[in-house]
Amino acid sequence: MIYADNAATTKMSDAALNVMIQTAKENWGNPSSLYTHGQRAKEIVEKAREDIAGIIGADRSEITFTSGGSESDNQAILTAAMLGEAKGKKHIISDTFEHHAVLHTLSALEKKGFEVTLLDVHENGIIDPAELEAAIREDTCLVTIMFANNEIGTIQPIKQLGQICRAHGVIFHTDAVQAVGHVHINVNEYNIDMMSASAHKFNGPKGAGFLYAKKGIGLSSLIEGGSQEKGKRAGTENVPAIAAMAAALKENADKTDERSAIVTKMRDRLIEGLLAIPHSVLNGDAKSRLPGNANLCFEGIEGESLLLLLDDKGIAASSGSACTSGSLDPSHVLLAIGRAHDVAHGSLRLTINEETSEKDIEYIIESVTEVVERLRSFSPVWRDLITGKRQFVL
Ligand SMILES: Cc1ncc(COP(=O)(O)O)c(C=O)c1O
Repeated sequence: MIYADNAATTKMSDAALNVMIQTAKENWGNPSSLYTHGQRAKEIVEKAREDIAGIIGADRSEITFTSGGSESDNQAILTAAMLGEAKGKKHIISDTFEHHAVLHTLSALEKKGFEVTLLDVHENGIIDPAELEAAIREDTCLVTIMFANNEIGTIQPIKQLGQICRAHGVIFHTDAVQAVGHVHINVNEYNIDMMSASAHKFNGPKGAGFLYAKKGIGLSSLIEGGSQEKGKRAGTENVPAIAAMAAALKENADKTDERSAIVTKMRDRLIEGLLAIPHSVLNGDAKSRLPGNANLCFEGIEGESLLLLLDDKGIAASSGSACTSGSLDPSHVLLAIGRAHDVAHGSLRLTINEETSEKDIEYIIESVTEVVERLRSFSPVWRDLITGKRQFVL
């Protein structure tokens, strides 16, 4: 199999897997227990916290372990909303192509009387900092903008966006689930107040993540119970997964530049090869995007059929995010960048990594070209397009 769906999840690295097994075998104590066996588990959790904090330029006290990206997003947004509400500030700014962990949390807050402004992400999938500045109001309590989009991979001008929030005294949260472990992030340099991350997107285990919250932001706990994580997240810590997450992040951080150079080169060849297919388009900015992300639309086909035929050829890809494939609605991300419904239906997301070879890239290009041609040959929509009954959009 050629696995080209690393935005959905990544394979655990050997280093992370070994740490996870070793911790589960040898240090399975409860970190809250006072005897040595428990305290050893606690030390492992604290060492992981210190390592992760070091990699993102934070203090260990600013890292809270969670079950992953969704939980971190929920906790960050709900915390800022509660802090804002206490000051009579109930306006939140985000954008139209966030992950549903953000958008649905914001919808829930709207039902509780918060007002949400969603910024346009434009055709290139990038927010204009001037538009953020113009949207900030006296009663804005939070700006939440993702670091990199999970479908089209575009990277936001986070440093600038954070700077604007700082200047206006507004909390700035970023969902960096797709970026952590793939690009260098220093939370202070980037003016980030809160940041969500998820281990399974950077070769760590599923069900583990963290939330960075700058000192002074008192996180509200989503889960009532024991006083783990200094009362910010009740529940016995998943010690093996936390240790494995730190190991995965450390390994990725050490090789970010080297990996990024290799993967970017292959991604660009992949995009170039696929754009040779007539009536195709790249979704999102060609440069400001994650190293491994290629997302394209092909007019006159259904993304779902494309995926199934690629699967037959041993290629694992996606038509959008893993969470929305299976639904027949076109991706909200592609609609947000202005793709027409019909075009958005013919999308393909390929997310490669350093294990992808140049030979794999050529095979993917060849396979997609062949499958798109085949699908078009029996598509009534394509027939209408080539006979002029319908106008081409691309
Ligand atoms: C941008 C983004 N945010 C949040 C999530 C949710 O993360 P998790 O699966 O760890 O809950 C994902 C997962 O696809 C994501 O891509």
